[in-house]
Amino acid sequence: MQIFLDTASLKEIKELADMIDGVTTNPSLVAKEGGTFHELLKEICGIVPGPVSAEVLSLEPEGMVREARELAKIANNVVVKIPMGLPGMHAVKQLSQEGIATNVTLVFSSTQALWAAKSGATFVSPFVGRIDDRAGDGMDVVDEILEVYGNYGYETEVIVASVRHVRHVVESALLGADIATVPYKVARQLFEHPLTTEGIDQFLKDWKGVQA
Ligand code: E4P
Repeated sequence: MQIFLDTASLKEIKELADMIDGVTTNPSLVAKEGGTFHELLKEICGIVPGPVSAEVLSLEPEGMVREARELAKIANNVVVKIPMGLPGMHAVKQLSQEGIATNVTLVFSSTQALWAAKSGATFVSPFVGRIDDRAGDGMDVVDEILEVYGNYGYETEVIVASVRHVRHVVESALLGADIATVPYKVARQLFEHPLTTEGIDQFLKDWKGVQA
């Protein structure tokens, strides 16, 4: 399974650049960093060779397509994030004909994911954490999407998004999701286990004892 970093922070991206397979941003994450959106995106694309998602802000198809064409000019690895909905799917259809990679975002059901795939999306992003927040089961939605895509051989890749904890990543991998996009804190936790830390400390202590 591929791991993307869900952040617009250059500091976080630089620290994990050689480990991650891509980056996803959204307007809230970009706003937190300040500066110019296009310049920040260019810099991120220069650090990470894999796909870097950047979201459009327009709400109608023509505006989305216009913004997407501008974003796609910034770097070869830009993936344009388009919000789910009928206007978004019109835009995705057009962009897929133009060969511009898309990530359909704010997906909360398998029917939405079906439309994304039928429209030619490159990636689809079910938001598992936000589904869980509303007493739903985000991983069940991912499971359904994978089954639907498998039934028809859709090539749209599933990015498990809105990841809140390590267990979301474990379940994504068990279900066979293509990608999980994770916040920095979760990405770091994926490397850690208290028994690893304890084991290293113990080995060093024992070694020092022998040397003494
Ligand atoms: C994904 O592409 C989104 O940027 C992100 O996962 C949203 O996560 P949140 O629900 O924690 O804001």
